[in-house]
Order: sequence, then structure tokens, then C-alpha cells
Amino acid sequence: MKSYRIASIPGDGIGVEVIAEGERVLAALAAHEGFALEFTHFDWSSARYRRTGRYFPEGGLEELRRHDAIFFGAVGSPDVPDHVSLWELRLAICQGFDLYANVRPARLLPGIRSPLVRGAEIDWVIVRENTEGEYSGAGGRVHRGLAEELALEVSAFTRRGVERIHRFAFALARSRPRRHLTLVTKSNAQRHGMVLWDEIFAEVAKDFPDVATERVLVDAAAARMVLRPDSLDTLVASNLHADILSDLAAALSGSLGIAPTANLDPERRFPSMFEPIHGSAPDIAGRGIANPIGTFWSAALMLEHLDEARAAARLLRAIEATTARGVLTPDLGGRARTAEVTAAVLAALGRG
Ligand code: NAI
Ligand code: MG
Repeated sequence: MKSYRIASIPGDGIGVEVIAEGERVLAALAAHEGFALEFTHFDWSSARYRRTGRYFPEGGLEELRRHDAIFFGAVGSPDVPDHVSLWELRLAICQGFDLYANVRPARLLPGIRSPLVRGAEIDWVIVRENTEGEYSGAGGRVHRGLAEELALEVSAFTRRGVERIHRFAFALARSRPRRHLTLVTKSNAQRHGMVLWDEIFAEVAKDFPDVATERVLVDAAAARMVLRPDSLDTLVASNLHADILSDLAAALSGSLGIAPTANLDPERRFPSMFEPIHGSAPDIAGRGIANPIGTFWSAALMLEHLDEARAAARLLRAIEATTARGVLTPDLGGRARTAEVTAAVLAALGRG
């Protein structure tokens, strides 16, 4: 029997709640489909940071590396500055393992209402560059507190980094029925890095003549997502732009609580990481009402990456059967609790 080692990092807040549900669903699915999943649990969290001064111990990444994939909840706590929690845990993993392709599908699931009249047309995959750009971490601050204080937040774009994300996005666009890729930049105002994005996109496009392309500025792209959802299919954008557009995509497809992410190392040198896009949601943590769908969908992306495509499809069918029946948490306008959504998904998995 095939067996996979999964590193489970629930993190903080509702991350802990949704990852527990995700593991239950994955364990049931593995039993149905005849493979094994071995979970290793890591208590890397803000509680650990407060206790020890670190989100993970020395040698932590080496330990993570011995797994086939990482299943991540969320990190962030009201008593730790967000830039500390994000950089010390989530970005430490993404940067440490060079997980450069962040993939974010958005689709309106059956039974879920979109704030858009044309919401049913949403069927997008946003490809986000995940290691450099606006979140490269380059920069600094001097003259703190003085009138002369200066803060630099440097966007770093490399030919290697831009080319590999474009190649990845073109290949993904080619695998989807519409074979359509939209390049999102802001190359009118950001005339160095974003122009490099445009140029390399045009070069890579020559290797993918069967993929139709277009270029849209990020502000116009936001408007297009709202006004003409059917005009988009696969999108590729920088770290910051895609971060913002993918929260918009999640909201337009019903809720931040349903949206999944894969942080991929396409070359498979390191384990890739799968997580819902939402954060730790301190406002609802501990109440048993967190929507687990984003985590389940992320689990399906993880199974695809592990080449368990049949199991991934079965999980997506079970998710859709559950939303179609109206078993929805409050963020989607329903009254179901987290555990009830899980129970409905488990029942649907049992039906095949
Ligand atoms: P958030 O995503 O945690 O919450 C935004 C809003 O959406 C809240 O009203 C929350 O209740 C709701 N929401 C989010 N996920 C939900 C779910 N599964 N079910 C039902 N409702 C849900 O973003 P926010 O409030 O900006 O950040 C909270 C903390 O999370 C911060 O510390 C932030 O830094 C961190 N964060 C971490 C992320 C990660 O680990 N990947 C991503 C985003 C934020
Ligand atoms: Mg975000």
C-alpha cells in the first residue's frame, strides 16, 4: 500500500480547528481509496513563540523536509505582531523551501451564493509568485522615531524568479480547457520590475503558442473580476498583486472560508505546503463555527500533488455534495457548525 508522510502544522486560532477536521476527512478518504497517510504533528504556533521565543526549534525545517507534504492551518495571534508571526513561520517555510508557485483556484461551488449576479461564471486559477517581489523582505528602517525616519520596502524581481513563475503559469493554463492566461502587472507605474515581468512573459509565450494571452493592469483586473468574471481563466501576478486579487476572488466566490492554496515546489526538491487562504480568525476562534471547506479543498490540492488524482476528485465531489445540500457555516449564510460540515463531507465520501 502506498503511504505518505504528512507534516501537520495547525498553527493558531481557527487553524487548529480546521486542520483537525481536515485530518479526519483525509484519514477517511485514504481508507476508502486504499492508501495510507501518516501525520506528524508540529505545535509550531504563537503559543510556542511566547513560551520559547521561536515559532519552531533549531533544525525544524530539516525535520519538515522528511515529509511528502505539509498541511498548514494559519498563523497569527493578537498578542504577537503579524509581521513577526508571518515571517517567523509561514514565510520561513515558503522561502526556506523555495515554494515559488502559489496556486489559488476560485470557483462558485453549488449551493453557495456569490455577491455577484454573474458569480456562477467564476472559474479562475490565480498563480502567485511566492518567493520574491514585494514580499522579498529586502529593505530596512533607519532614524527610528525621528522626523528623518526612513523605511524602504524593496520589491526584488529576478529573471530566474519571473521566468519560472511564467513557465509554470503557462503550463497550468495549457492544462485547462480554455487555454487562456492573463498577465496582471502594474507596468505603467512600476517601470522596472513590472516591465521585466512583461518582457519575460512575451519571451515565454513563444514556447506556448497554443495558449491565448492578454495583459491587464492590476486595478483593471480587479474591476474585470467583478464586472466580467467569464473573461478570465488563469491569471499570473506578483506576490502582492495576487495576494490581494485572491482574497477578492475568495469573497466573490462566497467567503474567505472556502478558498484553498497550494504552495508548490514544482521541481519537488522540497515538500510543498497546502493551506486554506484565510488567517487565524481570532474573532470566531474557539466557537466551533469556522468553515472547514477551504481546508478540505486544500487537502484535495495536496492529494493531486501526491498523484492521488482519483482521491482528490472524490473529495471535491463530497465537498460539492455538501454545499449543494446547504450544509453551510455562518460565513456562507448558513447555520451549520464546523463539525456538521465535516460529518456531511464524511457521509458523502462514503457514498463514493
Ligand atoms: P482572517 O482570514 O483570519 O479573517 C478575516 C475575516 O474572515 C474574519 O472576520 C474571519 O472571521 C473570517 N474568516 C476567515 N476564515 C474563516 C473561516 N474559515 N470560516 C469563517 N469565517 C472565516 O484575516 P485577518 O482577520 O485579517 O487576520 C487574522 C490573523 O490571521 C492575523 O494575525 C493575520 O496576520 C493572520 N493571517 C494569517 C494567514 C496565514 O497564516 N496564511 C493569512 C491571513 C491572515
Ligand atoms: Mg492574503
